[in-house]
Amino acid sequence: MRKKILAANWKMNLTHVEAESYVETFLNEVGEVNDVEIVIIPSFTSIPTLAQASGNAPFIRLGAQNLHWEKSGAFTGEVSATMLRALFVKYVIIGHSERRALFGETDEMVQKKVHTALEAALRPIMCVGETLAEREAGSFQKVLRQQVEQGLKGVPVEHLSEVVLAYEPIWAIGTGRTATPAQAEEVHAFLRSVLAELFDQTAADRTRIQYGGSVKPENAEELMREPNIDGALVGGASLDAHSFARIVRATEKTLR
Ligand code: 13P
Repeated sequence: MRKKILAANWKMNLTHVEAESYVETFLNEVGEVNDVEIVIIPSFTSIPTLAQASGNAPFIRLGAQNLHWEKSGAFTGEVSATMLRALFVKYVIIGHSERRALFGETDEMVQKKVHTALEAALRPIMCVGETLAEREAGSFQKVLRQQVEQGLKGVPVEHLSEVVLAYEPIWAIGTGRTATPAQAEEVHAFLRSVLAELFDQTAADRTRIQYGGSVKPENAEELMREPNIDGALVGGASLDAHSFARIVRATEKTLR
């Protein structure tokens, strides 16, 4: 009942020119995708190109990597929800660990951005994840609970399923070290129980939880077979259209 969602987070990579040929290659490889939701999340500068290039492929949704919580004003360098909506953006990543670690994004800022996104009918992909030290110290459940609780505070229960929660263990991002399917599944089940506790079971059961951290064509299928893993947020392996297409096909295989 939860449609799987695969998102390509390009981070600070690919120009708008490269984005155009990416979409062409990707569409040639995947044909039409109906049973999995596909989101491409480029840099802001490539969003208009992608909107145009994927115009004939309505199953491709557009995402952005960040937004500001204010509607407009003197915030040099920032981008608003309205600007994203005007470019047909549907999803927005909020609270990625790189933004938390490198740009000082706090749970409070994440919360404001989640509310701004929902008010603008954008769907937040809210990222949570523990560091290696937190995992080894055994305190990761506490860390994750806090990130979920703070980030989603005040979200009306009827809007919860518009949020995609992305579990990205920091020790698995860009390291080639993936959580095993069992490790990821355990955390996803835990996160769903936290959602049920904070909201209710029905809303928790409807909300998608993506896994992110060194997902690649070789490990996608086994991860996507886990019952509480509802998709992936892919970094490095999404930069190549062929490799992202293979991840899509591996995911489609789990639905047959
Ligand atoms: P990698 O797939 O490169 O590990 O990145 C994961 C990520 O941070 C996606 O948002």
